[in-house]
Amino acid sequence: MAEKLAQSDLVMESGPEAGTPMIRVENLHKTYDLGEVQVHALRGVSLTVYSGEFVAIMGASGSGKSTFMNLLGCLDRPTRGRYLLEGQDVSELTKVELAKIRNRRIGFVFQGFNLLPRTSAVENVELPLIYSSVPHLERVERAKASLRSVGLEGREDHHPAQLSGGQQQRVAIARALVNNPSIVVADEPTGNLDSRTSVEIMEIFQRLNEEKGITILLVTHESDIARFAKRVVLFRDGKIRRDSLVEGRVDAAQALISLPGIDEDEDDGEES
Ligand SMILES: Nc1ncnc2c1ncn2[C@@H]1O[C@H](COP(=O)(O)OP(=O)(O)OP(=O)(O)O)[C@@H](O)[C@H]1O
Ligand SMILES: [Mg+2]
Repeated sequence: MAEKLAQSDLVMESGPEAGTPMIRVENLHKTYDLGEVQVHALRGVSLTVYSGEFVAIMGASGSGKSTFMNLLGCLDRPTRGRYLLEGQDVSELTKVELAKIRNRRIGFVFQGFNLLPRTSAVENVELPLIYSSVPHLERVERAKASLRSVGLEGREDHHPAQLSGGQQQRVAIARALVNNPSIVVADEPTGNLDSRTSVEIMEIFQRLNEEKGITILLVTHESDIARFAKRVVLFRDGKIRRDSLVEGRVDAAQALISLPGIDEDEDDGEES
């Protein structure tokens, strides 16, 4: 099957792990039925994403980006079309089956962080493990390790209000990673952050992509942010209008060196 799919795909020849389609969607449609009106949010989207890719999804407000991400993340089902996730057709699965796949293979990061407010960082990160019935001690260990991997060692017991926006987003990324997903789906993860903090978040995504080989799909409005990805897919009116590789890709760690620093007190984490 791989050979057959390969011929039509742009990334096949240049992708790092050519031959492993992580995601393949064919003629995907999503129509929201609001009774009197029907909203055609996606109007026939076809896309193949290989293991190890880092794709930025761009497009005007209302062009269907979040709708597409929700389908890719198995949060919702298409009205029409096919979705193969690592070769498995998931377009016809029940909600319960989708939830299982989602929990095991996909990590989510959202613009608004979506953390539980009166809950510590470590407990927030543990949540997906509770759903997969991991025993308590192992849960805490894995959650702490995940927080460490995003540079939040020592902040385990802080509540979201005691963390900066960038730190809250890092907690959300740690939560997305705690089940060792093969894909991370992020919908405007830097939308609420200042520019330096945004680059710090992109540095984490680049590291996850390079070092752990996690496939990343990230929605952004900002072309500066898209330049950290390897490929950009542009949506318009529920369709893909352009699909191109990023030329002159920016290394986030490198970019941080030349950005003015923010004096952040690493000891108290009381900034908000
Ligand atoms: N749950 C829903 N019910 C009805 N219509 C919806 C729903 N979600 C999205 N839509 C509509 O579908 C279209 C695509 O919305 P979507 O949220 O995917 O856009 P987007 O590209 O993510 O926009 P933004 O950049 O503003 O986040 C819009 O017209 C929107 O109003
Ligand atoms: Mg959106």
